[in-house]
Amino acid sequence: MRHLLNPLDLTVDEITDILDLASDIEKNPDKYKEACKGKKIATLFYEPSTRTRLSFETAMLNLGGNVIGFSDASCSSASKGESVADTIRLVSCYADICAMRHPKEGAPFVASLHSSIPVINAGDGGHQHPTQTLTDMMTIRSLKGRLENLTIGLCGDLKFGRTVHSLIHALVRYTGIKFILISPPELRLPDYMKEEVLLENNIPFEEVSSLDEAIGKLDILYMTRVQKERFFNEQDYIRLKDCYILDNAKMAMARPDMLVLHPLPRVNEIATEVDKDPRAVYFKQVQYGVYVRMALILTLLEITV
Ligand code: NCD
Repeated sequence: MRHLLNPLDLTVDEITDILDLASDIEKNPDKYKEACKGKKIATLFYEPSTRTRLSFETAMLNLGGNVIGFSDASCSSASKGESVADTIRLVSCYADICAMRHPKEGAPFVASLHSSIPVINAGDGGHQHPTQTLTDMMTIRSLKGRLENLTIGLCGDLKFGRTVHSLIHALVRYTGIKFILISPPELRLPDYMKEEVLLENNIPFEEVSSLDEAIGKLDILYMTRVQKERFFNEQDYIRLKDCYILDNAKMAMARPDMLVLHPLPRVNEIATEVDKDPRAVYFKQVQYGVYVRMALILTLLEITV
């Protein structure tokens, strides 16, 4: 039985297979509409979510399966003090696969140790978010035609943003990748990510604080929200929350084929005027998220169509 806790749980070939399957699902959705008949996914969300939870649920419903779960820890037995280990033991009796989001780093890993069904990490604290990464990779591959030879600007909260951490982990395995890390000094990428992931894999990167300086060099601009819920101090959040705002004036400095991705939710970091720019693909990204989650569910349940 396989879990997905970190993008590195999948080999590059397995990721290619999942993205190929996701593209086939995009082209032939009807072929898959009964593939998970009689199966259930449990979505165990201990932290707020709109897209990720609904995306998993839509994915399972599109495959003909069913959905159980909770969207708020306060309406689960966690509020009575039940451990993640006990919760997953009983969920294993109800469902065939589960997606878990938790504010604590490592909670889905703990769940996987006690689970008899595949556990998918749907975001654990500031750590990892592998299904957002598969979504980002499908978006880039579908719209750029490749996952190699790309200069990728990661902009915003690189300290707490788990989507950024997961995406870097996954992309360092492709050739010709270069990162430009755009953040205020307080929200820089953690040292362990620089040392153990970027330097360890000889990946070229620059750390800058000006988006204007970097934007003209990018193939991909990955914008992120400042992660309010992970700040200890409200004053710091208020000071940093609007550190970058992508607007049409900034887009005018970008290459004509640069793509703007964002895992969403957006707060102020992308002005709504940018939504009309054909290079803004963050809403398309949401649709790709459903296809990759369908492909992942089929893969982890070992269902072939
Ligand atoms: C992201 C997350 O939860 O980490 N959202 C998502 O899953 N699409 C990004 C965020 O919350 O800023």
